[in-house]
Amino acid sequence: MSTVLEVSGLRVGYGNVEALRGLDLTVGENEIVALLGNNGAGKSTTVSTISGVVRARAGSITAYGEDITTATPWSIVERGIVHVPEGRRIFSRLTVHENLQLGGYTVRDGGASIEKRIDRVYELFDRLAERRGQQGGTLSGGEQQMLAIGRAMVAEPRLIMLDEPTMGLAPLVVAQVMGAIVSINRSGTSVLLIEQNARAALKIAHRGYVIDSGRVTVAGAAGELRADPHVVEAYLGA
Ligand SMILES: Nc1ncnc2c1ncn2[C@@H]1O[C@H](COP(=O)(O)OP(=O)(O)OP(=O)(O)O)[C@@H](O)[C@H]1O
Ligand SMILES: [Mg+2]
Repeated sequence: MSTVLEVSGLRVGYGNVEALRGLDLTVGENEIVALLGNNGAGKSTTVSTISGVVRARAGSITAYGEDITTATPWSIVERGIVHVPEGRRIFSRLTVHENLQLGGYTVRDGGASIEKRIDRVYELFDRLAERRGQQGGTLSGGEQQMLAIGRAMVAEPRLIMLDEPTMGLAPLVVAQVMGAIVSINRSGTSVLLIEQNARAALKIAHRGYVIDSGRVTVAGAAGELRADPHVVEAYLGA
């Protein structure tokens, strides 16, 4: 399996706060990789640094064989790496369809192609198709999360990084979002999935990392993590 993303010895700080202290991880082609850890562990900082929004103090980030450690957020999106940040940052006064059109801002070949991409998103999320004319702000929490993911998928990413996509959602909706992530992955997109809901994440992930205080403390196949006593005690509830 080829490596799409390699993070090596990553150090990131905010003023005096050392958020990442030598973090290493990889994502392989067509993998779902879960990033687990407690509040403040450095999960969001990791994906924000990969997406170029936050700068590394040391270490390197390689994507598809190229060094992107100092690349701009724009050029990282152009390389097919898309970040869906924490919280559902959709435009509440715009319709579902208009929100999805904004996901096509990096698509250079014009409107027709964007509409085709949006059709594929509607195939993935039939709930969005049914609600295409509805204002984003009137969607349920789960539907808003699907819209945020769908908008990222309009860019047809090679790697999608999702920051806590199931936060605050009811168990049934968590399962729907997780199902959508599996479909996205099966369609050929690699996934880096940040989750507090370790149980749900390790059900769909191929591999996982536990981050603590800016470092990886446990890494392995999802099945190994599910069986690891430390992971069970700290993140899965004995
Ligand atoms: N913009 C910022 N300015 C200062 N400190 C920050 C900033 N963003 C994050 N931090 C600090 O960096 C550390 C890592 O934060 P980060 O948001 O990456 O954690 P996280 O694992 O995503 O946590 P959570 O599960 O709560 O979302 C924390 O100590 C946090 O307070
Ligand atoms: Mg976070």
